[in-house]
Amino acid sequence: MKFSKSFGNSYDRFMHLVEKHRLRRRRARLLSGLRGRVLEVGVGTGINFEHYGPEVELTGIEPSPHMLAHAERRRLAMPRPERARLHPLGCGSTETEALFAPGSLDAVVCTLVLCTIPEPERALRRFLEWLKPGGKLLVLEHIRSHRHLPGRLQDLARPLWASLAEGCQLNRPTDKLLAESGFRLVREERFRVGLPFYEAVYEKPRD
Ligand SMILES: C[S@@+](CC[C@H](N)C(=O)[O-])C[C@H]1O[C@@H](n2cnc3c(N)ncnc32)[C@H](O)[C@@H]1O
Repeated sequence: MKFSKSFGNSYDRFMHLVEKHRLRRRRARLLSGLRGRVLEVGVGTGINFEHYGPEVELTGIEPSPHMLAHAERRRLAMPRPERARLHPLGCGSTETEALFAPGSLDAVVCTLVLCTIPEPERALRRFLEWLKPGGKLLVLEHIRSHRHLPGRLQDLARPLWASLAEGCQLNRPTDKLLAESGFRLVREERFRVGLPFYEAVYEKPRD
């Protein structure tokens, strides 16, 4: 995947109103109680960083150098930037696969990223492996509508959307992939921001 500089530099401006009015408070609620070793997948411009408390030791991965430059600025603005490390990597690369030992993470954070990563089922298997028993997977994503016509429209718009939004799959049924992933559902909420959205907490089963 070739990452565009203009996409990376305009992303926050493009998302500003949606973030301010619809997503920011959800991000805050989702991430506020975290502690321990946390992986954030595809950190983008680092929009989540302000919501991590001092007890989080963060590892962020992000394959777009343009997004990562913004994320690095936000990392430096964190109260304890030395507790956050960013890597220019994406899910699926051999370097990423080698970053974590099995059972070593307390939480994995995926916000607006399971829609984009190639092979999401494989990524979910890795998260399950890397998490400790009882470790959390936190999710905020747009999903494919469960209604016939809106879902079909998402299917039709997918190729154009993916070409404009660096591979984002408008019709990915991430809620269904999660239900089949081996994680245990803790809570979930469905809402709309133009598109159907999904906020959820999953847990790695303890047995
Ligand atoms: C829509 S943006 C969301 C960014 C951020 N997570 C947020 O909540 O705003 C999707 C991000 O996924 C990143 N990405 C693309 N391919 C990826 C991969 N294979 N692994 C991890 N992240 C990836 C993109 O570069 C981009 O920063």
